[in-house]
Amino acid sequence: MTALLGKLTANETGPLRGVTTAPGDKSISHRGLIFGALAEGVSEISGLLEGEDVLRTAAAMRAVGADIERQGGRWIVRGGRWVTPERAIYFGNSGTGARLVIGAAAGAGIGATFDGDQSLRSRPMGRVLEPLRLMGVEASANDGSLPVEIQAGRELLAINCKLSTPSAQVKSAILLAGLGAKGTTRVHEPVLCRDHTERMLSAFGVQLEIAADGEDGRFISLEGGQRLKPSNVMVPGDPSSAAFIAVAAVITPGSDITIKNVLINPLRAGVYETLREMGADITFDNKREECGEPIADIHVRHSVLRGVDVPAVRAPSMIDEYPILAIAASMAIGETKMLGIEELRVKESDRIAAVEAGLVACGVDVESGEDWLRVRGQGKAPPGSAVIKTQHDHRIAMSFLILGGVAQKPVEIDDASMIATSYPGFVETMSALGGKITGD
Ligand code: S3P
Repeated sequence: MTALLGKLTANETGPLRGVTTAPGDKSISHRGLIFGALAEGVSEISGLLEGEDVLRTAAAMRAVGADIERQGGRWIVRGGRWVTPERAIYFGNSGTGARLVIGAAAGAGIGATFDGDQSLRSRPMGRVLEPLRLMGVEASANDGSLPVEIQAGRELLAINCKLSTPSAQVKSAILLAGLGAKGTTRVHEPVLCRDHTERMLSAFGVQLEIAADGEDGRFISLEGGQRLKPSNVMVPGDPSSAAFIAVAAVITPGSDITIKNVLINPLRAGVYETLREMGADITFDNKREECGEPIADIHVRHSVLRGVDVPAVRAPSMIDEYPILAIAASMAIGETKMLGIEELRVKESDRIAAVEAGLVACGVDVESGEDWLRVRGQGKAPPGSAVIKTQHDHRIAMSFLILGGVAQKPVEIDDASMIATSYPGFVETMSALGGKITGD
């Protein structure tokens, strides 16, 4: 696998063709390791994403006492009671790892300090710490950001809370803390967001109650004091990673590709729905279910795209896919407006700003506001010929490498190293399909 260090340049490609796979789903991989470490006994995970973010979660689980080893393509996790780690747990760039493990550690009753890289230190942690404090967790934090320290041995009481931000990370942290709280923890999510925690907790033997709230949301309740039972997890391909390859095929003339075994959970598939509305020829073939999650082979052919309005309500189901959707929009005929996306300002980078700056540099007509982005596509390849500042954000890096494959002149990214956080084989996969991405 290429060490993705430094600059990379994407050059215009011919048609992309072939059958490929996407790396294991990042959300499910984190949860598989954490839930395996909470369960008393041996759990096995196959298809785990071996990207940096997930490997940090594996290291975190070892630090709290789990025994984790890789045997061939499988990961064996021996979990049980958590212990206070000897030093601060470092999550690098991973918001999911940090937020979920803070909740799980609170529920497990251990004390610990959590930290991350410069980008993670600037991301909001108050959204997790506030509900945990209401449950009785004693947590110190600088202005609601990492490093965060939580104290051991506090008795937690269940809470009833409503999510003010549709965040699966926050929902998961509360539910995981709720496992160690007295009483029934109930989370109200007025806007549905990814439900892998609920699905996987059930697979690990936890009783949850899920009820509609009478409008578009739901209530998720669980009784404290439940222990997880070991389970085997098969991690499907990540639809967020697959979206880069899918968009590359949609916008590159003559392309026809299949991405096998991809998660198509409707709470993750918003980008595919949007691309279809834009005119993309994308089908989900061979639909099936594995480990409680729907999967399919995604078949994509080059298509002429038209601009659309992407409604705010769809944001949680495609929250990580706006950068790559903006690339698709730059090739579409007419305007694409993405609404209700303020959450993008607090991801691995300010993604609205990073996408806008990159598209402007590539000669695309783009405009933004606090919570929206508008891209005016010309129905043809943009000029390109730019060096993109990735802001240490993997999804910005991959998005602009895809744009470089169709732009009139090459597109260079200033730093490819972060791609390894979620998609270590990205360049190889693109090359195998016919892409032309080169190093210095
Ligand atoms: C994730 C939830 C999302 C997403 C992240 C993974 C998860 O974040 O952006 O990449 O695994 O729960 P939020 O829940 O904060 O929106």
